[in-house]
Amino acid sequence: MGVKEEIGGWLRPIVYLGRNPISLTGAVLTTSSAFTIIAFWFFEIVLGGGAYKYPYAGILFFLILPGIFVLGLILMPVGALLRRYHLLKRGELPRLYPRVDFSQPLLRRAAALIVVATVLNIVIFSTASYEGVKYMDSVQFCGTVCHTVMQPEYTAYLHSPHSRVACVQCHIGPGASWFVRSKLSGLKQVFAVLFHDYPEPIPSPVTSLRPARATCEQCHWPQRFMGNILLVKKHYDSDKDNTSETTVLLMKVGGENAEGPQGIHGHHLAPGVQIHYIALDRKRQVIPWVSYTAPDGKTTIFRSTVIKATPEQLAKGEHRLMDCMDCHNRPTHTFQLPGEALDDAMQKGYLSPKIPYIKKEGLIVLKVNYPSRAVAHQRIAESLEQFYKTQYPQVIATQNTELQEAIKTIQQIYARNVFPKMHVTWGTYFNNLGHMNWPGCFRCHDGNHVAANGEVIPNDCSTCHDILAMDEHHPKILSELGVH
Ligand code: HEC
Ligand code: HEC
Ligand code: HEC
Ligand code: HEC
Ligand code: HEC
Repeated sequence: MGVKEEIGGWLRPIVYLGRNPISLTGAVLTTSSAFTIIAFWFFEIVLGGGAYKYPYAGILFFLILPGIFVLGLILMPVGALLRRYHLLKRGELPRLYPRVDFSQPLLRRAAALIVVATVLNIVIFSTASYEGVKYMDSVQFCGTVCHTVMQPEYTAYLHSPHSRVACVQCHIGPGASWFVRSKLSGLKQVFAVLFHDYPEPIPSPVTSLRPARATCEQCHWPQRFMGNILLVKKHYDSDKDNTSETTVLLMKVGGENAEGPQGIHGHHLAPGVQIHYIALDRKRQVIPWVSYTAPDGKTTIFRSTVIKATPEQLAKGEHRLMDCMDCHNRPTHTFQLPGEALDDAMQKGYLSPKIPYIKKEGLIVLKVNYPSRAVAHQRIAESLEQFYKTQYPQVIATQNTELQEAIKTIQQIYARNVFPKMHVTWGTYFNNLGHMNWPGCFRCHDGNHVAANGEVIPNDCSTCHDILAMDEHHPKILSELGVH
């Protein structure tokens, strides 16, 4: 039997059974979506594109069109099988399908078309699924498609040192099994958004977050020696002059050097070190039990003398191996507190400390519980203008440009941190790096976590930082260093 006949033999049932409305609809769907997809690729690749700018264009081109394409592919054989089933039931199925006669030019061309279309479909299908997956991993998809839900995290992210790192690099990381898991959980989330079945705010910590070893440590090296880092923190008082006070800390971040592990990173991250803890609450703020395994393998267990927990409570609590995220839980979704945000804007020059009482008034308007972001935007401007008009008309007369700039900045601070629709407001999300606004390091380093041998997780102020100046107007240390 020649090749021609063999192909002919294969084609007979396809040609015969394919003549039914379902298969033909499938062919139309597949062909038309294929043409649209190809046109879109042409637009993206050859003409430079830009569809990524529109969140829903991405859904259309990467998910819906390929979906229609695949649906068409499925309908074709389904139609043929149905036709076969009906013919069989009616006893009309020919014992031999009509011969496909290759001497007929029409059939020859039809056969060639089917072969070419199949090859093309395989190419389109694999490219489309690759593009679709790439699209679902894009920051734009994660951050903006479910706009309201992700708006708080996405906004904070855009203002963070990681604003060029894709969401999936921290939330999923490399490897096939996490890839599959993430797609399954993503599917669940799409349904949750469709049916508005999600918690507001989105709870933190993320219990299923992948350990830092596979995410953060793809870019950061835990033993890297950073030594001491100078932190200059400027605060402004609520008095008329917005008097500034500066605190200067030398943070002992450490890492590993010739003498071994040093400082904060060294003691928590050195090879062999394992810190396990048990938290009694969902937010991991109440920690009655900590175990520390030193590089030499010696394990010490510290128990809180203040937080009492029964063995049952300990067994029921969350057991966790400490990693980067237990200190840096806000490396990118860094929400500010109102005072902190105003201080930062004043230090950077977006908010003039020369406007009398601007810190105090800024705090007042920021802390109001507005029903929506639009109302907040309007009322912040109205309240501040009203205050200065009635109390300090000379500000309107001589410093109006600065005042308008200040109003804009304060509106932006609100917009960057408060999301009434998602019930995200000041302090909704804890920051564990520090101990002033939240327990942070002091969840363990409170001086009350004691081992059986009397050893305590250290709490004295110089364990983690040297305080070079505390709330000084003009710290001498900064002028000595030439820093302002
Ligand atoms: C630098 C790493 C990093 C990047 C990039 C990143 N995240 Fe996160 N994300 C985190 C960490 C860490 C947490 C908090 C984990 C915890 O405490 O358990 C988090 C938490 C979240 C939460 C839970 C709510 C919260 O604020 O704790 C959401 C939602 C979220 N991220 C969405 C996103 C989206 C959307 C993007 C991309 C626009 C993104 N993330 C990019 C590290 C990252
Ligand atoms: C894809 C690479 C990448 C990943 C993944 C990543 N980071 Fe980063 N990270 C960076 C880069 C690059 C910078 C420096 C940004 C800069 O200085 O502009 C940075 C900066 C930082 C900083 C310093 C922030 C500051 O205020 O200057 C911290 C802390 C940090 N990362 C922690 C983390 C943690 C925790 C994770 C995991 C949740 C993580 N990073 C994941 C690339 C990454
Ligand atoms: C025990 C708490 C703790 C753990 C665990 C921890 N860090 Fe840090 N890290 C700190 C502190 C504190 C600083 C000082 C910066 C500050 O206070 O703003 C710091 C600083 C950094 C910086 C430099 C920031 C800068 O301003 O230059 C990077 C990058 C960083 N950490 C990454 C990591 C990564 C990655 C991990 C996990 C492998 C990790 N850290 C684990 C507490 C921790
Ligand atoms: C989950 C508990 C826990 C948290 C939270 C925690 N630590 Fe620790 N830390 C420990 C334990 C346990 C040790 C080891 C104590 C020892 O040396 O016996 C330790 C040791 C240290 C040391 C070395 C102390 C020494 O012996 O010189 C430093 C510095 C340190 N931590 C800084 C921090 C900082 C900064 C934070 C917050 C950003 C923090 N830790 C958060 C548990 C914790
Ligand atoms: C376990 C480590 C640790 C111990 C112990 C510790 N601190 Fe801190 N401290 C930190 C970290 C981490 C920060 C946050 C740095 C940052 O904001 O990036 C901080 C920040 C501060 C700040 C600056 C706050 C601001 O925003 O202006 C002050 C002041 C301070 N600590 C004072 C103290 C004093 C006083 C003690 C002794 C009672 C002490 N600390 C003990 C780790 C520690």
